[in-house]
Amino acid sequence: MSERTPMIEMRNVSKHFGSVIALSDISMQVYSGEVMCLLGDNGAGKSTLIKTLSGVHQPTHGDMLLGGKPTRFKSPAYALDAGIATVFQDLAMIPLMSITRNFFMGREPTVGWGPFKRIDWKHADRIAKQEMAKIGIDVRDPSQPVGTLSGGERQCVAIARAVYFGAKVLILDEPTSALGVKQASVVLRYIAKARADGLAVIFITHNVHHAYPVADAFTLLARGSSLGTFRKEDISREEVLNMMAGGAELESLDAELAEFQRSDQEQKAAQGAGAPVSTPGAPPQAHAAGGH
Ligand SMILES: Nc1ncnc2c1ncn2[C@@H]1O[C@H](COP(=O)(O)OP(=O)(O)OP(=O)(O)O)[C@@H](O)[C@H]1O
Ligand SMILES: [Mg+2]
Repeated sequence: MSERTPMIEMRNVSKHFGSVIALSDISMQVYSGEVMCLLGDNGAGKSTLIKTLSGVHQPTHGDMLLGGKPTRFKSPAYALDAGIATVFQDLAMIPLMSITRNFFMGREPTVGWGPFKRIDWKHADRIAKQEMAKIGIDVRDPSQPVGTLSGGERQCVAIARAVYFGAKVLILDEPTSALGVKQASVVLRYIAKARADGLAVIFITHNVHHAYPVADAFTLLARGSSLGTFRKEDISREEVLNMMAGGAELESLDAELAEFQRSDQEQKAAQGAGAPVSTPGAPPQAHAAGGH
């Protein structure tokens, strides 16, 4: 079996914010043509991890490699130039600017030379419309403000832009969390397309139904540490779900709910003792509330 070189890799990366250890000794590999789902509870460090990969934060310790070569990005612009396109959780789009402007973000095509150089809006509008159409979104007028699009369509502008400009790595921080079923499926389909086009995709989601169909592997973060990477063939949807929700937490939730139910019943029983019983014909319940 030939060893593949990961498109992007973290080796023993830590990130501290003062005394807060947001990431601790993370090692992770993502390959071209694969989707890695990053799972974990709120505050687990998912956004910090991808911000470190995309040049927003500098790692406190550890190394990052792109195509096998050690790299460090001074800013997100450097990461983007190197081929790492990130759609951040707090979406970087300018609502009042047109779809076309948001699509190109300073890389608009130009016509003419020297002092006659100007942006070729007709061409730019046509590409924006065409690239959005490729993912099944019919933009009637690409000069309309991005703020007039739905959340899902906006996410797709950001993804379409990354793919169009030849990203090698696409990072998506919860792109589907605010979306309805139909919009989410558009974004998921596009993630699958980016994978088919050979991009390495890192996809953060809290939704197992979004993660499982598109993922090739899952990395689970908990309180800044990695609990491991699991290939899809080695793990079932139920196991992923358990990891996401935290199996232990579900168990304690079960116990809590049982306790609620018990105290509810106790209260009802206590009320029942002072007033006529309102639910005749329910002896098993009265028995279950027992103890008095
Ligand atoms: N700039 C910062 N300064 C200080 N602490 C930070 C900073 N960014 C993140 N943290 C802390 O790091 C931890 C991980 O946060 P992060 O945003 O990475 O979590 P997350 O897994 O993305 O959570 P969520 O699912 O809610 O988006 C949190 O405890 C957070 O408070
Ligand atoms: Mg986050």
